[in-house]
Amino acid sequence: EKNLFSPVQSDILEKRIPDHLRHPEGLWFGLSKRARIIIYTKADGRPEKLETYDDLADPSHKGDICMRSSSNIYNISLLASIIEHEGKEAAENWAKGVVANFARPAQGNDTANIEAVGAGECRISLVNTYYVGRMLGSENADTRAAAEKVGLIFPNQDGRGTHVNISGAGVLKHAPNRENAIRFIEFLTSDWAQLAFTEQNHEYTAVPGVSETSPVPGTDGFREDEINASALGVNQAEAVRIFDRAGWQ
Ligand SMILES: [Fe+2]
Repeated sequence: EKNLFSPVQSDILEKRIPDHLRHPEGLWFGLSKRARIIIYTKADGRPEKLETYDDLADPSHKGDICMRSSSNIYNISLLASIIEHEGKEAAENWAKGVVANFARPAQGNDTANIEAVGAGECRISLVNTYYVGRMLGSENADTRAAAEKVGLIFPNQDGRGTHVNISGAGVLKHAPNRENAIRFIEFLTSDWAQLAFTEQNHEYTAVPGVSETSPVPGTDGFREDEINASALGVNQAEAVRIFDRAGWQ
C-alpha cells in the first residue's frame, strides 16, 4: 500500500508458491503460512456448536471466550477474510456477537490466551498454530504441559476452510541488487529453506509437498481458506472500523 514493492516475474516463484499465497502482480510472495484456530479447555470437553468462526458468535458460548486485542494484525486479518466472504454487515454482526460472548475484555498475546484456556480461566480462544507448536516443542516440561491442556479445532473444514496468513517477501523498488534479491527469494522456496521455516518458527511451508517435521498441529493437512492473501490487506481498514464499533478493544 505504500507503493514500495516492484513487481517480480519468476517462473520458480510462480511454480513453487500457490496462487492464493502471492500477490496477483508479483509484488510479494508468501514463504510460510500459519492458521488461526480455535482452542478450548480440554478438561471441560469439546464445546457443542463450535465448528466455524461464525459459531464463536453463537449465544451458547456466552461468557466463555478470551480474545487477543483487535489492534493485533492476526485478528484484523481474520476479520478481513470474513468481510471478503460474508460482507461488511455480516462481519460486524459477527464481531458484536463474539464480543457479547467475551469472558473478559480482550487482552494478552496468543501464548497468554493458550495458558488462560488451558487453566480454565476461559473455555475458548483463537490462536495461531505456531504458538501451539512452539509450546508443544518446548524444552520446558511445564510449557509443554500447558499446551497439552488445550484442544484444537480447525474451523470451517466443511466450508471455506481455516483462515491462514503468510510471512513473505518482495523486492523493493530501489533495491540495489534486484537480480540477487529475486534469487534469494527463490532460494527461500527451496525444500531446505522451507523446512527451516517449519523447524525454526513452527509455521507451515508455503510450498506444498515439502515433508514437514515440526510439532505443529495441522502439519499433516487441513482445508485452508484460499482467498488471495492480498484481500486481507485490502479489507484491513474496514476491519479496524468494525472492531471499533463492536467494542472489541
Ligand atoms: Fe506471532
